[in-house]
Amino acid sequence: RLLIVDFGSQVTQLIARRLREAGVYCEIHPFQSVDQAKLKQFDPKAIVLSGGPASVIEGQAPSADPAIFTAKVPVLGICYGEQTMAQQLGGTVESGHHREFGRAELEVKKPSALFDGVWQPGDKKQVWMSHGDRVTKLPPGFSVIATSENAPFAAISDEARKFYAVQFHPEVMHTPDGAKLLRNFALNIAGFKGDWTMAAFKDRAIAQVRAQVGKGKVICGLSGGVDSSVVAVLLHEAIGDQLQCVFVDHGLLRLDEGEQVVRLFRDHYNIPLVHADASELFLKALDGVTDPETKRKTIGALFIDVFEAEAKKIGGAQFLAQGTLYPDVIESVSFTGGPSVTIKSHHNVGGLPARMNMKLVEPLRELFKDEVRDLGRELGLPADLVNRHPFPGPGLAIRIPGNITKEKLDLLRQVDAVYLDEIRKAGLYDEIWQAFAVLLPVRTVGVMGDGRTYDQACALRAVTSTDGMTADYYPFDHAFLGRVANRIINEVRGINRVTYDITSKPPGTIEWE
Ligand code: XMP
Repeated sequence: RLLIVDFGSQVTQLIARRLREAGVYCEIHPFQSVDQAKLKQFDPKAIVLSGGPASVIEGQAPSADPAIFTAKVPVLGICYGEQTMAQQLGGTVESGHHREFGRAELEVKKPSALFDGVWQPGDKKQVWMSHGDRVTKLPPGFSVIATSENAPFAAISDEARKFYAVQFHPEVMHTPDGAKLLRNFALNIAGFKGDWTMAAFKDRAIAQVRAQVGKGKVICGLSGGVDSSVVAVLLHEAIGDQLQCVFVDHGLLRLDEGEQVVRLFRDHYNIPLVHADASELFLKALDGVTDPETKRKTIGALFIDVFEAEAKKIGGAQFLAQGTLYPDVIESVSFTGGPSVTIKSHHNVGGLPARMNMKLVEPLRELFKDEVRDLGRELGLPADLVNRHPFPGPGLAIRIPGNITKEKLDLLRQVDAVYLDEIRKAGLYDEIWQAFAVLLPVRTVGVMGDGRTYDQACALRAVTSTDGMTADYYPFDHAFLGRVANRIINEVRGINRVTYDITSKPPGTIEWE
């Protein structure tokens, strides 16, 4: 295993992704948690020190535990990681008068195991920099292997101790050769085989589930989304009929989605599945609720009640399976310690296990979203499910501003189906992070044939994103938008106006509520 010590950079997760793409299993841990005891228990074969927002020349600057440098394993420091490494090993860091942000040109000065097969002395290469401070005096044993205009020590190494440090960010795409350098570090320098694959992960995950669960019974909540589907199929492979799935159908799903879930899991996979049709209950609870946060909380609370009641009916389960992903469990490095603002309260069943006295089974805890998709493919899940756009827990309720009724839900389902059908036909589905329709609480005047219409308006939304944290609106061409609008107005009775949402996130959010 490789250990990534996180100093709070925005892009630390990318280091992990690049390494995993090279077949190297790694984990991210906050710098405060990495001490001698942790190193002993983790037993890393190599260590990467990430970048971070702090400055080593400030008094309270975070530092790496000295045990990291005496563990006799290769260490790679990146950006802030380079600076703290240089300072802790006896070099000097100063505030740069010339800060570097963005693309910079690097000149390779000496051969190094880090550059093997990628860069030669004399090469000039593009890298991505983002730093104010810089190393100005080398620690003993180190030499400069590459420079840039504003960072004379842009890359340094002590080849004997296998210590490497770079001022630039090899993990981002704007350093085109960066992934190869990280691969060199892990495979050539640290001796990883690069054989961490999804097939190997699957076998190990199945063995772990069997060991954890024994002869116990596991309940898994299915939503029709990628994560819970992958959990269900993995668990079914691991423990067969000891798994019981519960699908709480809140009636806020897209067209035919509920039936698809039942068909796939009950009929195709033969997984014992309770389909709890609670749509009436949810409609009743939502009656008169128009405030977005109240909507979310109402749905979340009722979801837990229904799920709990179904789980009690099944009885005898000691375990609850969940599709928790790695980004949810990485402890974040916090420098401010202040409370962060809740933009939207998210729908999950986090409080359930304690309330029901159940233990958690979370086989996806170590995976990123795209790795979950790989695992889904490895498990033979259908491609349209594995590649499905994210769908929020509260479903269509947060895509209908104002009061929710069955009629509005049915209307929105039809609009959504036409829109997604056109996106698929145009071959754009996989390019888009998420696409959906919103039913607007306005009626407008139109003309159809010889008659006047006074019907509802809808908005279409489509965004690109890598993690849902930021997003850009998708630049459909006008012919496409025209075709979709035409079909919606002709095929969906009750809609006579279509608009396209061109807000990015930030300042907008992806969902409307
Ligand atoms: P926003 O609207 O906050 O959405 O920009 C970011 C991403 O999160 C999804 N989303 C949710 N997912 N439960 C979920 O599981 C929720 O309550 C929820 N709310 C928003 C949203 O669809 C987008 O992908």
